[in-house]
Amino acid sequence: MPRTATCSGMMRSMQKDDIKDWPDHVAAVPLDKAYRLLNHGPTVLVSASHGGVDNVMAAAWACALDFAPPKVTVVLDKSTRTRELVEASGWWVLSVPNVSLAALTLGVGTDSARGMPDKLLKHGVGTFRTPDVPVPLVVGCSAWLACRLVPEPHNQQTYDLFIGEVVGAWADERVFRSGRWCFEDAPRELRTLHYVAGGQFYVTGESLQV
Ligand SMILES: Cc1cc2nc3c(=O)[nH]c(=O)nc-3n(C[C@H](O)[C@H](O)[C@H](O)COP(=O)(O)O)c2cc1C
Repeated sequence: MPRTATCSGMMRSMQKDDIKDWPDHVAAVPLDKAYRLLNHGPTVLVSASHGGVDNVMAAAWACALDFAPPKVTVVLDKSTRTRELVEASGWWVLSVPNVSLAALTLGVGTDSARGMPDKLLKHGVGTFRTPDVPVPLVVGCSAWLACRLVPEPHNQQTYDLFIGEVVGAWADERVFRSGRWCFEDAPRELRTLHYVAGGQFYVTGESLQV
């Protein structure tokens, strides 16, 4: 299948370095390009960990905030168990799920670990880890951003708004290469998700190069 104008002619610049044991197709994303993983507005999975407890929830309200050092925002409601773990550890990971994980995304966004301690098991959430990031990443996603909390107690308390500095970013090379998403020539299952309501998502669609 021919590549689109968006993807063609680009040099592969990302290197596999300390991630040899990771899932296939994963490559580091330069931090100055990390914002592009969220530019198109995907729904994400927020993972957090503290005291030996891991958790994952869905978040539609995640956004790029700054280029260098790269920062992102995410809204974490006070009712969520994930927020508690973020506040306790100062870390979270945004994993960018795709079509193959749509049911999982809805599941971890519907059930809370507060009433369901085996939530990750129930929803079949697989995780893996990377050195220097004390939070698991979700298996099967199309990209990941490791975030260290930039404490802003007023924003957190008043708006449930958490700011994180991105200290590591990775993506599946089949859909993100040379600093850009390239969904056109990859399986549909790797396309990212945009939440509407009531269990409905849109799938990231066609490219329009201007
Ligand atoms: C697609 C989707 C998007 C969501 N987006 C957000 C969000 O941006 N912020 C938020 O606080 N909750 C959001 N939620 C709700 C949480 O994911 C939900 O409350 C979850 O059960 C919290 O899990 P926890 O208590 O185990 O952390 C979303 C739910 C879904 C299904």
